[in-house]
This record gives sequence, C-alpha cells and structure tokens, in this order.
Amino acid sequence: MSSPTVRITHCQDFAAAHRLHAPQLSSAENLALYGPCNNLHGHNYRFEVTVEGPVDPVTGMVMNLNDLAEIMRTEIWQQVDHKNLCEDVPFLQGVVTTAENLAIAFWQQLAAKQDCLAGSRLVRVRVVESPDNFVDYFGESV
Ligand code: NI
Repeated sequence: MSSPTVRITHCQDFAAAHRLHAPQLSSAENLALYGPCNNLHGHNYRFEVTVEGPVDPVTGMVMNLNDLAEIMRTEIWQQVDHKNLCEDVPFLQGVVTTAENLAIAFWQQLAAKQDCLAGSRLVRVRVVESPDNFVDYFGESV
C-alpha cells in the first residue's frame, strides 16, 4: 500500500525595498505603467513554499518542516530581508521585481536545492506583497 501524498507549507516574512522599472520602456512609460510603484518604496512581504510527497509511515512526515524552513532561510530570506531588491540581491539582477518575478526567482533558488527536499517535490511558491495582492507560481509543467 502506498503512502498518502500530502502537501506541506512553510511561510516566512521579510521587509524589503524595490521600485518597478522596465529598462525597455522610457521614463514616461514607466511612470504611466507603474505609477507610484516606479518610485523606491517598501513592502512587508510574506512568501510561502509548498512541497508535496508521501507521508513517511514511521515519522508521519512528508519532510521535516524545520529543514524546509532552513532552506528557505538560507536560499531566499537571508538574501532579501532588509535589502533593496533591485540592487542588493545577486539572484534578482536584471529582473523587474514584480511579485510574479519574485515568485519565479524564489522557485529557481529552491529548485537548485531539490536534493535537500528529502524526496518531496516543490509544487508552489506564493509571494504576498500586500494584504490585497499575492501571486502563485507552480513551476513549468513539462
Ligand atoms: Ni511595490
């Protein structure tokens, strides 16, 4: 009998500054598109990472959530907390720091550590930019 598959999620908060600016557009176009978000400003972000896998019949766990938390802390949180996302984060160089692009970049950071996920599979990265706005990335289906 195979073990039931369960999705588990860990969340972390960080504060960071950014501005939205697409280098392919003119200053006027950027201002028209992004409005005040074209200016440097900050957010109290939250990001959530969900992995999926079988529940180990001995431990009762998909993977140790403390291990997932540590991967998120080292691969993402330590690099973005209290930083300017547009200037200070090597893995965001050249990226327009929308929540969409943050979710994709965070996914890529974690996918590089897939071997550390104890056999479970990354299924969702959520970036919450404000109480009203969040985005989900589920990876590319192959
Ligand atoms: Ni913003």
